[in-house]
Amino acid sequence: MASEMTYRRHETQQPEAQSLHRKPIKPIRYMLREQRLIFVLVGIAIATLGFTLFSPSSSSPKPIPYYSDPISGSEMRSSSLAQRKSSIGYITGGIGSVGGKIPLGLKRKGLRVVVTGGAGFVGSHLVDRLIARGDNVIVVDNFFTGSKDNVMHHFGNPNFELIRHDVVEPILLEVDQIYHLACPASPVHYKFNPVKTIKTNVVGTLNMLGLAKRVGARFLLTSTSEVYGDPLQHPQVETYWGNVNPIGVRSCYDEGKRTAETLAMDYHRGANVEVRIARIFNTYGPRMCIDDGRVVSNFVAQALRKEPLTVYGDGKQTRSFQFVSDLVEGLMRLMEGEHVGPFNLGNPGEFTMLELAKVVQETIDPNAKIEFRPNTEDDPHKRKPDITKAKELLGWEPKVALRQGLPLMVKDFRQRVFGDQKQQEKTTTSSSTE
Ligand SMILES: NC(=O)c1ccc[n+]([C@@H]2O[C@H](COP(=O)([O-])OP(=O)(O)OC[C@H]3O[C@@H](n4cnc5c(N)ncnc54)[C@H](O)[C@@H]3O)[C@@H](O)[C@H]2O)c1
Repeated sequence: MASEMTYRRHETQQPEAQSLHRKPIKPIRYMLREQRLIFVLVGIAIATLGFTLFSPSSSSPKPIPYYSDPISGSEMRSSSLAQRKSSIGYITGGIGSVGGKIPLGLKRKGLRVVVTGGAGFVGSHLVDRLIARGDNVIVVDNFFTGSKDNVMHHFGNPNFELIRHDVVEPILLEVDQIYHLACPASPVHYKFNPVKTIKTNVVGTLNMLGLAKRVGARFLLTSTSEVYGDPLQHPQVETYWGNVNPIGVRSCYDEGKRTAETLAMDYHRGANVEVRIARIFNTYGPRMCIDDGRVVSNFVAQALRKEPLTVYGDGKQTRSFQFVSDLVEGLMRLMEGEHVGPFNLGNPGEFTMLELAKVVQETIDPNAKIEFRPNTEDDPHKRKPDITKAKELLGWEPKVALRQGLPLMVKDFRQRVFGDQKQQEKTTTSSSTE
């Protein structure tokens, strides 16, 4: 035991003793002696050369952010879009970044866009365009007036997601843009449960603005020409404040949208959220709800079913009708552009209800009868957008005339009206034979 201890002490003490007698070696002399300095210098030289050759800033002039215009497909340069891209993460490795700091597998291919109300009439056409442009689209919809049928052609596409969700409840999603459309749009639907309508407009918009603020997304609100109420100014310019009844049967929608605009502007001014506001005028096209009480869908469905076309009042009240593809183009230009709005998006071509009935007769059935009914409460007498602002600042104006667009809608309605009838006949025959 003692010998073992002695031996170990000897082992541990030896180096100490040696180090006491050894002269300290100076680092430079050590490096020279071992030729390590040469290795270090060569290493530094190689690293410097590598950085000079492969650094992005030296191989090209300072990178100018590019942005591909979704509508024209052309590239534009814009400082604010560049800033926006940095705020949504493009600079750190998304589209167009040269250095590629994010691993290849995690790079995004398009924008991440949420469309609330994306299973509805306008929303589903917007989704088609966004998917075609290569974006990742998330539809959030409670299917109150929308339908899976409108978006089911995207099922199975990895760039498409559908979430059944009511915007009155908060939701958290990582996105770059929010198109907020969720809200019943036809009088039949928004009067069905007025309290729910105003909740959707106020609480739903608050929730989506909160999300935009939290994730730094750009937010577009689809407001309406109804914010002008029964206008005393004609045509309506964006600076007109409107003539709205705050306690009428349409107020849940009109005042709801006015509040939604207020909220959007307050989030913009108070929390720097990038907002866009569109005031949409009457829009028509395929995938409209067949029996939603809106005048174009009413007339088309009635003419197809060989029912009389119902005209409310004397039929001299005017409306302007915009084809859905024109609207979608306007919404996308607004979202991608620099201006907050509000912008009127509508077709200034003005038709009286009787003129519209005649176009429907010409397109579907020249023998269709017209039936007059008493006018509905708060129905505005005149509605026509002044679109000067959208023309000048968005370079947008509608392209599709009523006589061009109507046949496209009729084709879709024909399929749905008669497809449904055939389906009904099949069900009745099979149940009667059982
Ligand atoms: N179509 C027009 O002529 C017109 C005119 C002015 C404004 N707008 C506005 O454009 C937007 C879209 O209109 P549309 O014609 O496509 O109407 P739509 O009724 O076809 O679509 C609205 C969609 O929102 C969904 N929705 C409703 N409440 C919801 C809720 N609480 N949570 C989640 N989803 C909800 C519906 O299920 C539907 O899919 C609306 O905001 C509307 O106010 C439309």
